[in-house]
Amino acid sequence: MIASAPGKIILFGEHAVVYGRHALVSAIDLRCRVEVKKRSEFRIFSPLGLTGLDLKIHPYITFAINRFCEFKKIEGAEIVVKSEIPIASGLGSSAAVTVATLKALSEEFEVYLSEEEIFEIAKKVELDVQGRASGIDPFISTFGGSWIFPERKKVELPFQFFLIKLWERSTKAMVEKVANLRQKYPEIVEKIFDSIDSIALKAPNCGAEEFGELIHMNQSLLRALGVSSPEIEEIVSKLEKDGFRVKLTGAGGGGCIFGIFSGRKPENSFLVRPEMEGVKIESA
Ligand code: MEV
Repeated sequence: MIASAPGKIILFGEHAVVYGRHALVSAIDLRCRVEVKKRSEFRIFSPLGLTGLDLKIHPYITFAINRFCEFKKIEGAEIVVKSEIPIASGLGSSAAVTVATLKALSEEFEVYLSEEEIFEIAKKVELDVQGRASGIDPFISTFGGSWIFPERKKVELPFQFFLIKLWERSTKAMVEKVANLRQKYPEIVEKIFDSIDSIALKAPNCGAEEFGELIHMNQSLLRALGVSSPEIEEIVSKLEKDGFRVKLTGAGGGGCIFGIFSGRKPENSFLVRPEMEGVKIESA
């Protein structure tokens, strides 16, 4: 059984969304495909390596299998992962592999979980691995489309986006960094979250020019939260000098930066567009 799920781009609201604020998020046209076959033991094969159940190398898949076993106890499976989504880059590769694994397990072992159940289990898996999370990544990988989260207000985004991949980093570490800053300066950090919330709510009604201004403001607030860095700001400044508006997307500290594509894109960037389809079966 082969299932696939899309990656995502957070346009506005990362980190603040962990503390109950809104985010604007879209699925993107890069997918992760997971094939599951019944076997007598567990074998997981991905670009990260070949393992059995392994919380170090394949934490999301291993926790997904453990959580799936709460619905139906299984003795083994072969899991093969092929993904177009760059790893540890803020584009939701972990959630996509989790959601696609759950869907493929669910069909292969005739449990037939609903999308809502897959989302709920994937959210638990994310918490198992990261300790703290908003659920935005498993939500968008499951349902696809573009949304104001957590309200589940569907929006249409008439844009294509360019992405520049920086370096890999750990979401967990960046989320912890913001948690520490909030603990130290709660009255200041909560106000930064409120401003990010206003940006996320404003964005769906904006044209390209205002959208660019919001990108600039949100990037400055991410910098204030400590998830940018001098190296990232240098790249952002250079792109701004070239006339682009860009911001980090996802947890920051590296990962990816994005901007709206209006006929011109920076060197070393690639284009993505909003994707309507969430998790699905590719073939039996
Ligand atoms: C990660 O894609 C987005 C964060 O806001 C974490 C989360 O919402 O769980 C940094």
